[in-house]
Amino acid sequence: MNDPNGPIWWKGKYHLFYQMNPHAAVWGDMHWGHAVSVDMVHWKHEPIALAPTHNGPDSEGCFSGSAVVFDGVPTIIYTGVKNAPPELVTIHDGADKLREVQMLATAEDEDLLHWKKRAAPVIATPPSGMKVTGFRDPCPWKEDDGWYLAVGSGVRDQGGCVLLYRSQDLRHWEYLHPLVWGKPNGKQAVNPCDSGEMWECPDFFPLGDKYCLLYSTEGQVIWTTGHYDRKTHVYTPEQRGLLDHGAYYAPKSFLAPDGRRILWGWIPERRPEAEYSAAGWAGLMSLPRVLAVGQDGRLRITVAKEVELLRGKERRAQFGPIHKADQESIVAEFVSCRGELKLNARRTGDPFEIQFSGEGGVSWLEIKFDPSRRTQVMIDGQMLSLDSGEEEELQLHAFVDGSVIELLVNNRQAFTKRFYYSGTSAQTLRIAWRGISVDLVSSSSWELAPISNDRLTR
Ligand code: FRU
Repeated sequence: MNDPNGPIWWKGKYHLFYQMNPHAAVWGDMHWGHAVSVDMVHWKHEPIALAPTHNGPDSEGCFSGSAVVFDGVPTIIYTGVKNAPPELVTIHDGADKLREVQMLATAEDEDLLHWKKRAAPVIATPPSGMKVTGFRDPCPWKEDDGWYLAVGSGVRDQGGCVLLYRSQDLRHWEYLHPLVWGKPNGKQAVNPCDSGEMWECPDFFPLGDKYCLLYSTEGQVIWTTGHYDRKTHVYTPEQRGLLDHGAYYAPKSFLAPDGRRILWGWIPERRPEAEYSAAGWAGLMSLPRVLAVGQDGRLRITVAKEVELLRGKERRAQFGPIHKADQESIVAEFVSCRGELKLNARRTGDPFEIQFSGEGGVSWLEIKFDPSRRTQVMIDGQMLSLDSGEEEELQLHAFVDGSVIELLVNNRQAFTKRFYYSGTSAQTLRIAWRGISVDLVSSSSWELAPISNDRLTR
């Protein structure tokens, strides 16, 4: 699987669709997989929701998109791709074979199992006169005077952008203008996604008293918060950052019934294709992350409280005084790589390290604090800024499952790590504290229950 698609809450259930290849654990022949849940934690697989139509505008794939309710009917807007003559091609990635159009499908039943596609695209070509690098991943929302739609795009030498459309019925769309433009990163790349000349998966929504735009490019997700003028429909980003510093891409949000803005993200593989192809599965969905805007206008990320449903008994790390900065103590142990850790540490004059490791001490994730750089923390060699006062403790919140660690730092930074082990079953993961003990304010851990008995671990 890759991108999450069309998350929606409908008739008391959370539905989540996602890009999947039903034939092999490699990218290709994109379909929309479907899963349903009552709590965002326990999931049931449903049959494929969307498949390419032979000879249709999506014959080569049903790419990413969104789901909304229009006139009481759940409605999907997605990108269809098919082979096309050079003048109609919109994906200029070196292969230059595919044409992208925006498609619509409506639900035929309350369980969202059957979808009826509208045969003709609802947007058949990019804006006239525009030579785009790509044209995909529609994201609709409603305003007082109608529906709006953001489409990911870009232009060579000018940068990635998001194109803005308007409609009254989701079927007829009028192009307005770019919602926002980026800049190329200056790299020469055949694929415009590598040079910042194409933005994928735009996601645009109000958040607190700001608006938030997420987009994916150069293998990373950028968040921006800013001002959206509802009269001119121009978005001005004010603050920006990386949504995650590790393996995380193409996220997609939705509004939960209680008003929370929940984000799903694709956690890709970090091992060679031959290995994941042999494993028979590739890619996974992140935990649900709740987005908010802080006083400083910057993004805040927490993991949805529903995930606490999986917690076993709390274990608090306790050990006597340690006076040496290089002395190590185990704060948590997760059998079968399943667990949650909450650790707070004081940022004072002493260095400390927290290490996640497997059997034989092989290191899977390393967090280091250096008192000469008190506003930063180093994770796996990457320096992350904490954007917070020095008096605030370092707050780590980590979830371990199989071959992934999702780590949040002070609810400001995220770092998703993939790690792999040999053997057929998940190992025991240990978390060690190296530093003097007075700096370790608290450390709690929980075993997490698996949600199925055929859990994929490696
Ligand atoms: C992002 C992406 C989207 C596209 C989909 C195809 O990972 O490239 O832009 O719609 O994946 O699977």
